[in-house]
Amino acid sequence: MFTMIGDWWRARNVERNRRELIRCEAKSTFRAALSSLAPHSDLRRWKRWADRCPPHLQELPKDIPDDVPYKGLRNFWYPVMPAKDLRENQLQSSRLLGEDLVVFRDEAGSPRALSDVCPHRLTRLSQGWVNLHSPGTVSCPYHGWTFDGTGQCVAALAEGPDSPLPRKTRTRAYPALERHHVIWAYMGGPDKVPDLDDNIPHVAQAMSGSWPWFIHWDWDCNYLNSIDNNADAAHACFAHARCSQFLDQARYGKHYGLELECGGLEVGMETTGPDHRGSHYASGWDMHVPGYIYFAPHPPIWPAGAIFWSVPIDEGKVRVFTCAPFHGEFKDRARAWIMQSVHWRKWGLPNNIYHCNIGPDRAMVMGQGALSDWRREHLSQTDVAVIKFRQMLKKAWQVERLQAAEIEPRAQRMRAEETLTEA
Ligand code: FES
Ligand SMILES: [Fe+2]
Repeated sequence: MFTMIGDWWRARNVERNRRELIRCEAKSTFRAALSSLAPHSDLRRWKRWADRCPPHLQELPKDIPDDVPYKGLRNFWYPVMPAKDLRENQLQSSRLLGEDLVVFRDEAGSPRALSDVCPHRLTRLSQGWVNLHSPGTVSCPYHGWTFDGTGQCVAALAEGPDSPLPRKTRTRAYPALERHHVIWAYMGGPDKVPDLDDNIPHVAQAMSGSWPWFIHWDWDCNYLNSIDNNADAAHACFAHARCSQFLDQARYGKHYGLELECGGLEVGMETTGPDHRGSHYASGWDMHVPGYIYFAPHPPIWPAGAIFWSVPIDEGKVRVFTCAPFHGEFKDRARAWIMQSVHWRKWGLPNNIYHCNIGPDRAMVMGQGALSDWRREHLSQTDVAVIKFRQMLKKAWQVERLQAAEIEPRAQRMRAEETLTEA
């Protein structure tokens, strides 16, 4: 009985707080905009610092232990770009897991991803042309070697039609697909390619809306810094003190509680605490290997849920890739449009989304160095989720290494067959 009353009371307060937060949003946006215009505001200070981050902070620590997966886990699908950014007859370059990719659409409109490095003299295929020689092919801008979507060379244009090269030459191709408004690539082992929705369990749920809203930006630090930042709920009390979303923690940060539920490749987090009116708030999200956080649907802010990825570009760079699709109803479309329009990169305007939610994070995670040296940290009780998620990443990395050790001899043979051209 008491539990039921307690649940009801809690749900009532959560709902009241949600309404309050929405009401605060406009005020907070305005305040954030004003404060980011002030020359010495924290937000400006941090942005200025991160823009000119000292070069020594961009170096990786020496002797990184080999159980730390700082190069990124490979046996997972990663988002490459929003699908709308990949047009027909267009080549896009993208860097993922330390490798440069050229991405394009084949004759059926399906995305293809090849190594961006031409096997002839190593220039960038992405500077060349798509569909020049025949539909669904990429031609190198230097001497015209041409590859289809599987990486097979189909012509060496500078050598003429009788060249024997095409039969013997391949470049590296990676599985790619378009689903849920996003182009995905898989750069894992050659043995089996997992199904995207099994591999990344929240994707179907979080990206099912018909009006996708994307923002993505690159930070000069390792993806592990960014993931730790997501697991570190306590920083909201300080770094995000000006956001309406974090108003409660900002005032009552000392009393906030954190509950974790760990299992498989996922850590579920819930933060709770008294809000600014003395009642209770709760917010929660899931963190999943290889490095994204998932917010369950939370209308009207995220009607279809949201995903924030920390995508490893290379050892010293992370792409924070955010997707929050909206449904087709008019008010959702309007909200998606407003969020997209106020995005700082589009109009160059300061706004709540960037300056409160993202700007401080960038300065904090870059301040830790290219890769925070876990051996030198002094973790506290607020870092329990950080610790748990690191353990999961290490375990997943160990599994990958064991698998790689088993298949490596065969993979080496396949690579040698695939990429080398007989002279
Ligand atoms: S470098 Fe690409 S064809 Fe020569
Ligand atoms: Fe943050």
